[in-house]
Amino acid sequence: MKHDNGSIEIVTGSMFSGKTEEVIRRLRRARIARQQVQVFKPVIDNRYGIEKITSHAGSEFEATPVARSSDIPPLLKPETTVVAIDEAQFFDYGVVALANSLADRGLRVIVAGLDTDFRGEPFGPMPQLMAVAEHVDKIHAICAVSGEEASRTQRLINGQPAYYDDPVVAVGAAELYEARARNHHAVPRRPAAMPSVQPVPPGQPEFLGGVLVTAEQIKARVAELGAMITRDYVGKDLVLLCILRGGVMFLTDLMREVTLPHTVEFMAISSYEPGVRKSTGQVRIHLDVKQDIAGKHILVVEDIVDTGHTLARVLDLLNTREPASLRICTLLDKAERRETQVPVDYVGFTIPNHFVVGYGLDVDEYHRNLPYIGIVKPGFNIG
Ligand code: IMP
Ligand code: MG
Repeated sequence: MKHDNGSIEIVTGSMFSGKTEEVIRRLRRARIARQQVQVFKPVIDNRYGIEKITSHAGSEFEATPVARSSDIPPLLKPETTVVAIDEAQFFDYGVVALANSLADRGLRVIVAGLDTDFRGEPFGPMPQLMAVAEHVDKIHAICAVSGEEASRTQRLINGQPAYYDDPVVAVGAAELYEARARNHHAVPRRPAAMPSVQPVPPGQPEFLGGVLVTAEQIKARVAELGAMITRDYVGKDLVLLCILRGGVMFLTDLMREVTLPHTVEFMAISSYEPGVRKSTGQVRIHLDVKQDIAGKHILVVEDIVDTGHTLARVLDLLNTREPASLRICTLLDKAERRETQVPVDYVGFTIPNHFVVGYGLDVDEYHRNLPYIGIVKPGFNIG
């Protein structure tokens, strides 16, 4: 029995939403309707038996594991009328053209896969497949925290939410996934979106061309950074090392969000002189740390990393004193201006190439007191 019209139908949702269960249900019904069915899955999915797809609820259906989408056409039998593809998020993008061409030929194509990854971001070719499909069903799991409908997959490492950039699981660490509702889905260390420029409020300095990060945005992000640092330094002798003078406002807010016992230190350095808007790589130390940092966990707190020359010199110097660890937390990162590689571990906001002022940052030593990050109009000079 051939279909008159081919079509693509998608079954998607988080882990444990019952996608495979739903596909198996459709395939069994197709068999009852005397359709010829073939099922494919990517080889990397070897969670259970290999020659079948298995739902979390225990249903099974025979399936052919394939390495890539181009392996499927030679395996198709002439009498096949229904093709199912499971775990489609793991396929190459060729699966989109394949699904289209099968449907064009009159086949019924059923595709199951995760719509988003553990970060909550679109997963592989699923968005394209959903766009070209005739039917899309988003089904839901049950949130492990609240019992509500779950639309997200939470990745946990040793019981804690995995970081956005946690690549592989450390040896000995237990990794686990569970379904979560949007408001219970946590992805620490997600890079903050590039702020967009907002108008300068009335009564503010006229040399400002715009507000890049508002006081509210800073407050929210500093709280997030503090939570990450708190999580990462449990049981460690933490020293927050503020680079004066630009980092001071950031430090005093950040330390209140780090709810672990820690000490603070200060270093005063200068990287360039008033009137010059680019660091020379000539770093002068005016004030050094008070304590011996050997064996301590040092987190450098900076206002902004621009070319990277200043921090590179500071790190070289601090490393000779043999701290237990040395990491960097910067409020702002002008990433596109980097001239020397520095490992920045915590970033408040990645910003475009503007000269900025406020929240500790100066223009020619003034205006550090502005509660937001403003953009200085090009060509502006004090006095
Ligand atoms: P770098 O050596 O080029 O990375 O410069 C780092 C230092 O330059 C920072 O600690 C700031 O003091 C200063 N800086 C860089 N960009 C800006 C800016 O846009 N406004 C104010 N100060 C800046
Ligand atoms: Mg500075």
